Amino acid sequence: MRPAEPWHWVGIMTDSSWVSIGPLDDIPEAEIIPVSPGGFAAIVVRRGYAVYAYEDRCTHVDYPLSTGYVDRDEIVCPWHGACFAVETGEIRCPPADGPLIAVPVRVQEGQVELCVRAGQQLADLDQ
Ligand code: FES
Repeated sequence: MRPAEPWHWVGIMTDSSWVSIGPLDDIPEAEIIPVSPGGFAAIVVRRGYAVYAYEDRCTHVDYPLSTGYVDRDEIVCPWHGACFAVETGEIRCPPADGPLIAVPVRVQEGQVELCVRAGQQLADLDQ
């Protein structure tokens, strides 16, 4: 079961559930950056001052996306070529059959933080 809206995150996004992955300035533009805050495997992509994060798992056959690449506004899976919108994780081309699991991101005083707890819960619901 996949939750439909980000309101599922409300109530679990407490201050203690945000984990820093480092300064925004250290994240290169338009590349897939693998991170594992709190042991949760995720990828982040920076576009300007915006950062997007997703579980490091393609929705085709669950292989990692971290060795993929960004082509304009799409994250491309290295295994069989599925692609997803950078800004939403929605599927743009097969063979994947569902959107990526988004992880909430915020930038606090120049530090990029992921709400790992929310990402983990959404990933668990999608299994
Ligand atoms: S695992 Fe990503 S396209 Fe197959």
